[in-house]
Amino acid sequence: SRRIKLALIPGDGIGPEVVSEAVKVLDAVVRGEDVVIEKTHFSLGAARFLETGDVLTDDDLAAISSHDVILLGAVGGVPGDPRLANANIERGLLLKLRFSLDHYVNLRPSVLFPGVPSPLAAPGDVDFVVVREGTEGPYVGNGGAIRQGTPHEVANEVSVNTAFGVERVVRYAFEAARARSRKKLTLVHKTNVLVFSGSLWQRTVTAVAAEYPEIAVDYLHVDAATIFLVTNPGRFDVIVTDNLFGDILTDLAAAISGGIGLAASGNINPDGRFPSMFEPVHGSAPDIAGMQLADPTAAILSVSLLLDHLGLTDAAARVRDAVTADIAARSESTAAGASRTTANIGDAIVARLGS
Ligand code: NAD
Ligand code: IPM
Ligand code: MN
Repeated sequence: SRRIKLALIPGDGIGPEVVSEAVKVLDAVVRGEDVVIEKTHFSLGAARFLETGDVLTDDDLAAISSHDVILLGAVGGVPGDPRLANANIERGLLLKLRFSLDHYVNLRPSVLFPGVPSPLAAPGDVDFVVVREGTEGPYVGNGGAIRQGTPHEVANEVSVNTAFGVERVVRYAFEAARARSRKKLTLVHKTNVLVFSGSLWQRTVTAVAAEYPEIAVDYLHVDAATIFLVTNPGRFDVIVTDNLFGDILTDLAAAISGGIGLAASGNINPDGRFPSMFEPVHGSAPDIAGMQLADPTAAILSVSLLLDHLGLTDAAARVRDAVTADIAARSESTAAGASRTTANIGDAIVARLGS
């Protein structure tokens, strides 16, 4: 049988709560398959930093890299915790993993499942995917401050966009569009202001588009894209965009398609040189941590993306279908005043997995 080495990084806050449910679903869905999942648990995040002073050591990174795939919950301590003032767990752990493991595609699908209330009056047919660049842009840490703390402080944060980095993610986005039914790709940027990176992104999309005559290509400035995400999200199919715009757009995308508790993502290294990492889009939610109030669906849908990535497409579809069925039944259960714990939702989704 096939052996899959899975690195688990539950992390902080609600991370461990939602990862427990995701693992429950994963274990249940592979039971019928000829697959053995070997899990290694990595205790990383704010709690680990407070205990040992380490965020992600070279040994941690090497150990994680030796796995086939990674499932992460969320990282980030309680805001304002003075002991974390100088520890940037998000940069030192999450971004370090994305950069070191060359996760140049951050894949964030948005689907409005039947029965999910959207905050939009007329959401239409919401089914798009954001292909967010994952290793460049303003996230690279190419910055610095001078005269810090004085009235003459200058703080720079330089967005890095390489021809290599832009082309590979744009190519991935075109392939994604080709595999989908609407066959449409929208570049989102801010070319009217960010002229150098904007020009590189625009020229790259135009050049690659020539190889994909069946894909309709358009462009939106990021500010206008936020309008259309709210007024007409059905116009989108594949959105390709830079790291920071993609971060912001995908929280909005989550909100219009049923909430952050449903939004899944994959940090993908399409070359297969490094393990890809799957995680909910949401963070550690310190406001509800430890209370069994978190919705584990985003983490469970991330398991579906993980299974797809491993080529276990039947298992992936079974997870997606079980989630779809659970979500469809939610409006009834909430109407009846029933509220479910994080574990209740995980159990209900396991129960809906067809065999
Ligand atoms: P957040 O996503 O943690 O929370 C935003 C709001 O959404 C909160 O009200 C929270 O209760 C709610 N929420 C989030 N997930 C939910 C779920 N599964 N079910 C129900 N409600 C949910 O964002 P934030 O408050 O900006 O960040 C908190 C911490 O998490 C910060 O330290 C931040 O840096 C970190 N963070 C980490 C990741 C990650 O690990 N991938 C992502 C985003 C934020
Ligand atoms: C996300 C998060 C991260 C990001 C933070 C925690 C570094 O917001 O995964 O969307 O900005 O990418
Ligand atoms: Mn984000």
